[in-house]
Amino acid sequence: MKSRDDGATAGPQLGRRQFLGAATIGAGVAATGLSGPAAAYEGPSPQVDFPADPRTFGGGPPSTNNRAEIDLFDCEVEGHLPDLDGCFYRVGPDPQYPKPAKFSGDIPFDGEGHVSMFRIKDGHVDYRTRYARTQRWKAQHAARRSLFGMYRNPMTDDPSVKGLSRGTANTQLFVHHQKLLVFKEDSPPVYMDPWTLETRDDYYTFGGKLGSQTHTAHPKIDPLTGEYVSFGYEATGLASKDVHVFTADKNGNVTWGVTVQAPYAAMMHDFAVTQKHVILMVTQMAANLPQMQAGGVHFAYDSTLPVYIGVLRRGGDGKDVRWFKGANLFCTHVMGAWCDGDRITLDMDGGEGNQFPFFPSVREPFDPVKAQGRIRRFTIDLTRKSNDTYQVETLYPEVTGVLSRQDDRFHTLPYRWGFLSAGRSWAIFDHANKTSQLVTVPDYALSEMTFVPRKHDAPEGDGYLIGIGSSMKEAGRSDLILVDVKDIAAGPVARVKMPFKVVGQVHGFWADARQLPAV
Ligand SMILES: [Fe+2]
Repeated sequence: MKSRDDGATAGPQLGRRQFLGAATIGAGVAATGLSGPAAAYEGPSPQVDFPADPRTFGGGPPSTNNRAEIDLFDCEVEGHLPDLDGCFYRVGPDPQYPKPAKFSGDIPFDGEGHVSMFRIKDGHVDYRTRYARTQRWKAQHAARRSLFGMYRNPMTDDPSVKGLSRGTANTQLFVHHQKLLVFKEDSPPVYMDPWTLETRDDYYTFGGKLGSQTHTAHPKIDPLTGEYVSFGYEATGLASKDVHVFTADKNGNVTWGVTVQAPYAAMMHDFAVTQKHVILMVTQMAANLPQMQAGGVHFAYDSTLPVYIGVLRRGGDGKDVRWFKGANLFCTHVMGAWCDGDRITLDMDGGEGNQFPFFPSVREPFDPVKAQGRIRRFTIDLTRKSNDTYQVETLYPEVTGVLSRQDDRFHTLPYRWGFLSAGRSWAIFDHANKTSQLVTVPDYALSEMTFVPRKHDAPEGDGYLIGIGSSMKEAGRSDLILVDVKDIAAGPVARVKMPFKVVGQVHGFWADARQLPAV
């Protein structure tokens, strides 16, 4: 490790903000500087030497990057592991190589996707991790160095990788039609074997039927039909306003697709689905071509741009899309959504300002108070033809957090139970009684959780929260923690005691064994 003071780290001293505190990605928050375009590299591959400065890409103490692909059979378990049969999958960025100094201001979310799996059955847990063998990972592996420049900016890439997918597969994963699909929202999914984590397809296009160059990290499954509902923004190229929305049946056959135009090209990280509608959100985190041409990252936050919520009918031709404006809130994740006829309710977590301090702001500086996320309930009335505004109220104003989740079996439907990463804790919301509870584990920082039903047909919210806890007294050593939602006062029902700090995570996903291919 060497210290680095080459100017690329100049900028505000940004600590880990709330969003990154809830995720467990290893890198610190980088101050995003602008660098010149890439030049052709000459000479041997550089020695692998990550920077010491935690504000730089991949920088920090030696434990920052994991990089080790691991198989650990029969992990140590403390407590009583519930009678579950399935896999808890996680994914997050884990830099494969350090970047050249000119790109050291890149953001932590540009690390290559490292997938981990906790296989739980018969009271035993086996752990496995593998990098997603993306086109990018394979090219860099062969060259033994970083070949891709700044976050979502192909203008900064090494000329040798022109035409390859830039996707890192580092954001979320999903099991559908018996495939583990791993996502980065600038590219199609990567298909991995759900048991071995072997990469089967580094550019999965649903049998060639994907009508978009991109694919969200947050597809949804209609619990009534098993349909896969998804979208891609910037669907026809860099900074394009085209948004492609599509569905696939439970076997992965594309059954519907339509392309609509957003008011402007911007981050559309998550979306929502009701039984009748697809709901899109355009945030003020806009694609910024001049910034990319100057060698910077893809996005810049502009508080003067309006937030839009777009609604279109599932199965329609897209001409019915309507865009609604209202209070400007920067929202990233959906908790739940449903409709009563053509009256829509959408719950997301969001702040009054930018929640991503690592992206440049073209107006005011980052404001950590405005970044605080709360549960925002949006309502949209489609029955009034002249209506072009959404209404919004803040639920549980006393609770701040990010990374909303729900019992996924109830997406598209009226729901009662919601979950949120709240600092080092997990928050549980009962919308029926309008109450909240906090799950804390002494001396541990809890990262994003996933809800696991007690049985596959258990009532909504009857089950466990599962997620990684980082021991603050043991340099971040990890426990996989399970808490019974119906008895949080009892504390964790089980802890899987890992002998090390596991690879970081943005998001996780639980797959019941009946969703997985027969062994
Ligand atoms: Fe996300």
